[in-house]
Amino acid sequence: MTNTENETEKPHDWQEAGDAWGHSAADWACLYEHYALDAILAIFELTAVSQQTRLLDVACGSGLALRLATATGAKAAGIDAASSLIDIARERNPNADIELGSMFDLPWPNDSFNVVISINGIWGGCEAALVEARRVLKPGGKIAISFWGNGTPNDLRGCFKAFARHAPAEHLGSMKTLNNIAAPGVAETMLTDAGFDVFERGSRVSTIEWPDAELAWRAISSVGPAVPALRHTNPSIVKEAVLEALLSCRDRGGIYRFRNDHQFVVAQNRK
Ligand SMILES: C[S@@+](CC[C@H](N)C(=O)[O-])C[C@H]1O[C@@H](n2cnc3c(N)ncnc32)[C@H](O)[C@@H]1O
Repeated sequence: MTNTENETEKPHDWQEAGDAWGHSAADWACLYEHYALDAILAIFELTAVSQQTRLLDVACGSGLALRLATATGAKAAGIDAASSLIDIARERNPNADIELGSMFDLPWPNDSFNVVISINGIWGGCEAALVEARRVLKPGGKIAISFWGNGTPNDLRGCFKAFARHAPAEHLGSMKTLNNIAAPGVAETMLTDAGFDVFERGSRVSTIEWPDAELAWRAISSVGPAVPALRHTNPSIVKEAVLEALLSCRDRGGIYRFRNDHQFVVAQNRK
């Protein structure tokens, strides 16, 4: 049976998601996480993050956005499902309030924050997380979510196709639902349905560079969606397929320059 057959969808299990995203936490934190710098800075400008801000980062990972928010003087909080990423986020952000847990059940009271962000943390199928985000957001507060777009450049596509070819079939349905958020209007509808008024959709080109193939592989294989393939197929076969896909972004000096369309939508709490 090929991987395009039998694509039944698995329900979201936050602890399983956290285990996958945390499987190679140091590599994620040091080799991949800065993919989001350009989008985070754009989002901070659009949500006016400043000393007066109480900011929550939903699915904060190893804490880059928390670090940048704290640098502006904002008071920052974060939550993530991956305990190994939370450990790094806490080391990096000793003054932030960082919790291990689920975006569907936030451990903060109503109206706690004036900005909520989620950098590639809230995807298609996570509508309930937006309702929960709205609960902890003050009236008139702002929310921004980012996700991979379908535009160019899209160096991710080849790598994710390689992971998909080597993953068990039941994983593919949930991947399609998650990625559906990039389709025109989907993120806007999710936010509107959850009680927000959308006021901006934007994009940046995310760029990460790795000096050689081994570091490129360590970075790419640290992402959560690599895990089903790495558990299902001999990792050296997956590695070969991913490195082949990455050849198109290797420059003449041998640097792997990995560039992707990074989209975001910003909205205001309607209540
Ligand atoms: C693409 S990573 C983004 C991490 C971070 N925002 C960043 O940009 O570096 C997705 C994150 O979502 C977290 N996650 C997945 N499901 C979750 C859930 N139900 N509740 C909280 N975090 C979740 C994962 O552990 C992972 O850290």
